[in-house]
Amino acid sequence: MLPPNTLQGQVAIITGGGTGLGRAMALEFARLGAKLVLASRSAEHLEPAAAKLRQQGAEVLTVPTDVRDPAQVDRMVQQTKERFGQLDILVNNAAGNFVCKAEDLSPNGWRAVVDIVLNGTFFCSRAVGREMIAQGRGGKILSVLATYAWTGGPGTVHSAAAKAGVLAMTRTLAVEWAQHKIRVNAITPGAVQTEGASGALWGNPESARKLLEKIPVGRLGSPEEIAQAAAFLVSSYADYINGENLTLDGGAWLGRGFLAVQ
Ligand code: COA
Repeated sequence: MLPPNTLQGQVAIITGGGTGLGRAMALEFARLGAKLVLASRSAEHLEPAAAKLRQQGAEVLTVPTDVRDPAQVDRMVQQTKERFGQLDILVNNAAGNFVCKAEDLSPNGWRAVVDIVLNGTFFCSRAVGREMIAQGRGGKILSVLATYAWTGGPGTVHSAAAKAGVLAMTRTLAVEWAQHKIRVNAITPGAVQTEGASGALWGNPESARKLLEKIPVGRLGSPEEIAQAAAFLVSSYADYINGENLTLDGGAWLGRGFLAVQ
């Protein structure tokens, strides 16, 4: 575990920060001394998470934000500046997804997911990056990916294509903004036990068993494990890591190979 003053006084925006992994990251960043800005589409997700963070003694601002709308994103950055006077970390965690055969996916369904994942990540990175450049103190941007961004993933053509775009964006901005001391990285969680994913994706014993067979370490990840890795990547311990992706999936995406001995 990172020491409790690791992110002392730093201001972190987490999109989709009210639930699941976003919330776990907010809790870990707060434990490490950060001030938090939680931005999600729905206000009702934000307040319970903010209340929990305040209980831990963290300073928190909630800004209902649809990342698809650049004007709302700009407003979120403006409110962050007004409240905290600075901005140090952005986590692009907001996402939207559903499983659908490519041939059945409507143009609107495609647009909805690409808009949230790819366009939303750019709008947030752009608005925050401009502010970090103006501040002249550097910063850290971290985007959440999925392994199907590089393996492909049947049923997720919209999300896989959008996340692959975010991976390319990560590498591009890492080089472009290094001169401004902004580090840009990605983190890729595999199967993680969150309220949302557990019910929707492996809610029955049969699908849970099949899933576990695919994970070499034989278990799901915990939100805390992902949050600790995210905190490391935005901390000064990772100051020489730029344009990288860190995958936490128990080795699942590597597959078992076709000459498997087990
Ligand atoms: N299967 C097929 N198409 C779907 C779908 C599904 N499960 N869910 C949404 N769509 C389509 C809609 O039919 C619509 O297309 P249409 O106008 O051609 O009918 C289009 O996607 C937009 O749907 P809408 O519900 O209006 O979008 P939204 O912008 O309010 O929300 C999502 C988009 C992706 C966020 C929404 O599908 C959702 O709530 N998903 C589950 C929650 C989630 O994604 N959590 C994050 C997990 S990473």
